Amino acid sequence: MPNEKQKYRSAAWFGNNNKDGFIHRSWMKNQGLPADVFDGRPVIGICNTWSELTPCNAHLRELAERVKRGVWEAGGLPLEFPVMSTGESNLRPTAMLFRNLVSMDVEESIRGNPIDGVVLLCGCDKTTPSLIMGAASCDLPAIVVSGGPMLNGKFHGKDIGSGTDVWRFSEEVKAGTMSQAEFAEAESCMSRSAGHCMTMGTASTMGAMAESLGLALPNNSAIPAVDSRRSVLAQLSGRRIVEMVREELTMSKILVKEAFENAIRVNGALGGSTNAVIHLLAIAGRIGVPLSLDDWDRLGRDTPTVVDLKPSGRFLMEDFFYAGGLPAVIKMLVENRLVHGAALTVTGKSIAENCSDASNWNTEVIRPMSHPLVEHGGVAVLRGNLAPDGAVLKPSAATPALMKHRGRAVVFETIERYRERINDPDLDIDESCVMVLQNCGPKGYPGMAEVGNMGLPPKVLARGIRDMVRISDARMSGTAYGTVVLHVCPEAAAGGPLALVREGDFIEIDVEQRRLHLDVSDGELRRRAASWRPVLPVVNGGYQQMYIQHVTQASEGADLDFLIGCRGSRVERESH
Ligand code: FES
Repeated sequence: MPNEKQKYRSAAWFGNNNKDGFIHRSWMKNQGLPADVFDGRPVIGICNTWSELTPCNAHLRELAERVKRGVWEAGGLPLEFPVMSTGESNLRPTAMLFRNLVSMDVEESIRGNPIDGVVLLCGCDKTTPSLIMGAASCDLPAIVVSGGPMLNGKFHGKDIGSGTDVWRFSEEVKAGTMSQAEFAEAESCMSRSAGHCMTMGTASTMGAMAESLGLALPNNSAIPAVDSRRSVLAQLSGRRIVEMVREELTMSKILVKEAFENAIRVNGALGGSTNAVIHLLAIAGRIGVPLSLDDWDRLGRDTPTVVDLKPSGRFLMEDFFYAGGLPAVIKMLVENRLVHGAALTVTGKSIAENCSDASNWNTEVIRPMSHPLVEHGGVAVLRGNLAPDGAVLKPSAATPALMKHRGRAVVFETIERYRERINDPDLDIDESCVMVLQNCGPKGYPGMAEVGNMGLPPKVLARGIRDMVRISDARMSGTAYGTVVLHVCPEAAAGGPLALVREGDFIEIDVEQRRLHLDVSDGELRRRAASWRPVLPVVNGGYQQMYIQHVTQASEGADLDFLIGCRGSRVERESH
């Protein structure tokens, strides 16, 4: 029976000796739980995105057992629960469509249940932001445990990286420099262990964002999924979340403005995914921290990319871990005053204390600040008459010669039109052109698919060209590369100027000046706007309908407008 010392939130379920307390405890006992586990100890929810349809997270059931071991050791009661799992490689039309839905699942699962603190088990791209967003809206103590990256891919004696080398191989096949048989062989060589993409794609980036926000134990982002140290980290996280509940170390004490500024700097140092821009804006919105694209640009400008990982560089996450991982990078940023060293983390210590013992064991993988991969590596935010509310570009993945460019627009009204036209040998296009894709933003796709890095036309590829300027309101995979302007706001389907671009218009991009200009007079743009009609997708009602009605623009995090803000963890009325 409950004792007198019940003080946690879960006491509202398990701490009464009345009919309600009977019901809550009795039904839980059908799982073989002894009576004394309801003595007032912290109840830890383990929020699991395990799914065989999310191959990157398919090992999370085993990892959950390690977390439980730690929770028991520290005197807590672990209770694992599932939430919708968004697998990037399978889910259609795009996993991003469901990020906000999952966050609702997480938020309500936490708030509606006897949970005092929560461990967020995630990995594949959207699973990390969706869990953090949902938990942030409740503001209980929370700790992130990522599934970790796969081992390096190995093909014909060389390392190959998830996503990045798929895009490259696909273009090689189109260019006739790789056979179909080799392409098929590479398929088995790329994904050869449990874990998520092992490039610095969105999954690795978001793992690193969790760690640099202070929401995960040091090294969470880089330990390979199958390394025994991943299991240790899970167990230690289980122990730590129990202590966090006792210390009342809630998310809002960690997720302050300085934490987000640190994460933005770290993203620049890593050459991280542009998807982090949208996800961090959304997380900040949930916890009530003002964050904007201007913060991204301000902090990114003087952040060098020092980590030499694909898609920006040469190496992979396994190499990164062996080189010292994120603590080695953060230590360097702290020493160069690019990170707020005093920022609090889930360890109860500052981020600087967490990495004070870190070492860099391989200066090719983690380069010195004096010899970076890209000097100004942070995400660049472009503005102009084509993107009044901003657009983003990742300098570390772009071609330097194309970062200042003027070219003739070749316009694809939808991704379907792009697919119909791109292989046409008569398409009037060469490498000096600017490829423009419309109607792939949050409302237009819907869900803002990762199609912004449109493949180049075969006739351009055949000449050995591998990059062209591409502009869209879409996102791109964190594993992708190229001179690709993304997240143009407002999007075309919301009536943004992107919708008004016509074939043959000229577009100027100047990353240094942060400029994106459509060289068409204001009067002509007004005329075009007067006759513009939205090209909205056909949706199947239900959630998709609600999503289109309520999704905000990418510059605001593409959250649903009614989910923004922290609603807390107040226990609702008794149920029986
Ligand atoms: Fe899951 Fe890349 S597909 S992390």
